[in-house]
Amino acid sequence: MAKRRAVVTIGTLGLERASSVPLYRQLYDGLREAILSGRLRPGARLPSTRMLASDLETSRNTVLTAFGQLLAEGYLEGRVGAGTTVAGTLPETLLRARPEAAGPGRPGRRPRLSRRGALLVGARAALSRGAATAHPFRPGLPGLDAFPFDLWTRLLARRWRRVPRQLLDYGDAAGYAPLREAIAAYLGEARAVSCEASQVIVVTGAQQAVDLAARVLLDPGDTAWVEDPGYQGARGALVAAGIRLAPVPLDGEGLDVRRGGRVAPDARLIYVTPSHQYPLGVTMTLQRRLALLEWANASGAWVLEDDYDSEYRYAGRPLAALQGLDAGGRVIYAGTFSKVLFPALRLGYLVVPPELVDAFVAARALTDRHSPSVTQAALADFIEGGHFARHVRRTRALYAERQATLVRAAGRMLGGLLEVAPAEAGMHLMGWLPAGVDDRAAARAALARDVDTPPLSSFRIRPARGGERGGLVLGYAAYTPREIDDACSRLALALKGARQSG
Ligand SMILES: Cc1ncc(COP(=O)(O)O)c(C=O)c1O
Repeated sequence: MAKRRAVVTIGTLGLERASSVPLYRQLYDGLREAILSGRLRPGARLPSTRMLASDLETSRNTVLTAFGQLLAEGYLEGRVGAGTTVAGTLPETLLRARPEAAGPGRPGRRPRLSRRGALLVGARAALSRGAATAHPFRPGLPGLDAFPFDLWTRLLARRWRRVPRQLLDYGDAAGYAPLREAIAAYLGEARAVSCEASQVIVVTGAQQAVDLAARVLLDPGDTAWVEDPGYQGARGALVAAGIRLAPVPLDGEGLDVRRGGRVAPDARLIYVTPSHQYPLGVTMTLQRRLALLEWANASGAWVLEDDYDSEYRYAGRPLAALQGLDAGGRVIYAGTFSKVLFPALRLGYLVVPPELVDAFVAARALTDRHSPSVTQAALADFIEGGHFARHVRRTRALYAERQATLVRAAGRMLGGLLEVAPAEAGMHLMGWLPAGVDDRAAARAALARDVDTPPLSSFRIRPARGGERGGLVLGYAAYTPREIDDACSRLALALKGARQSG
């Protein structure tokens, strides 16, 4: 039988009710300090949120919020039902010198890491990993069955056959010039992004874009607004750069700018997915975009716009990128080829205001010089030859069909179990569970039947408020109608089973 770890007592977490620091923040700081000082050891099990709330004479929501933030930042680990523990992966060197701390080169001990190294290890959990077999409905994947691999192979081979010396030497850290031109032309036309090619920096994807923005524009300890619920990959990159996250909720118009201003008036950066919020799917209204830009201009904060899947809009007029509305030069625009082409390509782009180009290019050069030149050249050929536009058109029709298949299958098989409504954009849909159903338990039951549908709570920093329904995120772009149908029937069995045992 597995040995249960003892629950630690947390003695010295006095909360000051008169303080202007919110109670959840005081609790977060207290627990973080207890972990960093070694009073709470890796693997130590924390009391239940209910018990801690009662001990501290505070609301359970305060405790849930503090735990949520520590979970998001990798200090804690936990699963519903299994309790919350101090992360086992926290390197001992993060803890202030303790007698038994590892010495250099001592075998069998965890290696000494810097504080930054420790943050990286802690934040790693935020990033999803590829799997040998992607089960439906794992979100984020494009329809690889539709990608023209023969053509791509030909374009790459042609480049390699006649490769000039210059493509084999170190290249421009900002990217291969013709690719930057092609991206600038595409963004101007398709996304109303206002830029010159000189403002385009080729990066390895949105992940590197967030990392560079955090390191070039913010200092460790600075605060960034992040959408809550929101994309864990971006949050992880910010945490790894030592940035404090200020979770900002969303409403039907997108990020709640007024709430953000109250929660963290000192924010230096705002990370948003305005075209198609990840994962809720809200498109930020024009009014809200203007309010966001006004706030950023007035406060001097940067806006990091992640336009990750904007190619996929099936109905309605495509809304132009936020960047195109920005008269104050506050928006850093990030896009990726992971969604239209494939994630392993590791190519994306940043568009930065002219005065920031040198700083971003310097940071890129010192991080990893630049992206592979021959692959960049083949991608430039792919775009200039009209293949990119053709592939977007084809996959847009294909994904619209796949979405319709999912909505129909859900209507037939998931009635009363999961509400799945069509959406005008994107590559995934939200499935809403009946009130009171725990989405983590539902996702676990689904995974046991090879249906990979992450729970909405795993995208949250603050726990859902009472009355907010749990949800499942259903990626559909990567799966054939047959796979979608089969997965829906397995999901129905899983959700019925979970309802009976719940
Ligand atoms: C919101 C969001 N941004 C960006 C990405 C893609 O990141 P990358 O370009 O690093 O592959 C994803 C992938 O799932 C995403 O969901």
